Amino acid sequence: MLKAVDIHKTYNVGPTKIDVLKGISLEVERGELLAVVGASGSGKSTLMHMLGLLEQPTSGDYYIEGEKISYDNDQELSSLRNRKIGFVFQQYYLLPRLTALDNVGIPLVYRGMKDTEIKERSMALLKKLEMTDRAGHKPDEMSGGQQQRVAIARALVGNPSLILADEPTGALDTHTGQEIMNIFRNLNEEEGITIIVITHDPKIAAQCKRREELSDGLIVK
Ligand SMILES: Nc1ncnc2c1ncn2[C@@H]1O[C@H](COP(=O)(O)OP(=O)(O)OP(=O)(O)O)[C@@H](O)[C@H]1O
Ligand SMILES: [Mg+2]
Repeated sequence: MLKAVDIHKTYNVGPTKIDVLKGISLEVERGELLAVVGASGSGKSTLMHMLGLLEQPTSGDYYIEGEKISYDNDQELSSLRNRKIGFVFQQYYLLPRLTALDNVGIPLVYRGMKDTEIKERSMALLKKLEMTDRAGHKPDEMSGGQQQRVAIARALVGNPSLILADEPTGALDTHTGQEIMNIFRNLNEEEGITIIVITHDPKIAAQCKRREELSDGLIVK
């Protein structure tokens, strides 16, 4: 499903070059539930940006479903990202002025789908995440766990084959974090969605089928 070959990422900060990813090769099969762990600053979020087509590697090749990614067409990249990948972040990143329902529908708005269909699909996702009673609420009227459920619904609304989650339980208490992890496990088990979870929490990582550790820009075993 995913194949990264010798991915490097170097940032230029003024005259200084910072090598953040130093040759990452990683294959992820369809249906995997993978935890990426590693110390702060080891490059986990940077790797997620590469896997999610949010940034271009400095060198190396990346394939999604056998298709080699070419980075020269922004529109194609956005479209691929929109169709195949759902993102979940520690800070939810919901739009503050929109209701839960409208936040869920955002990826479909970018696809140019009809409003009635967007509402219908978004409602179905809120139902799946047991959030129908909060459909009309704005983010600041919901708890962290509820906001993260809305963010997961938004990640799922476009039927992605891959979910990338960067510290999805990082801002939540243990119990709520476990509930969010249970949602990911169910999605993986029952719908076969490939999920990559970046986490600091060994208890969360232990619930994934596979773990990879990043250290100073490299995968270590
Ligand atoms: N846009 C950028 N420009 C320059 N340096 C960057 C940039 N993004 C990340 N870095 C550097 O890359 C290194 C890895 O950052 P990254 O955010 O990937 O770490 P992380 O493993 O996700 O850490 P954390 O667990 O704290 O989230 C850090 O030293 C960071 O300062
Ligand atoms: Mg990070």
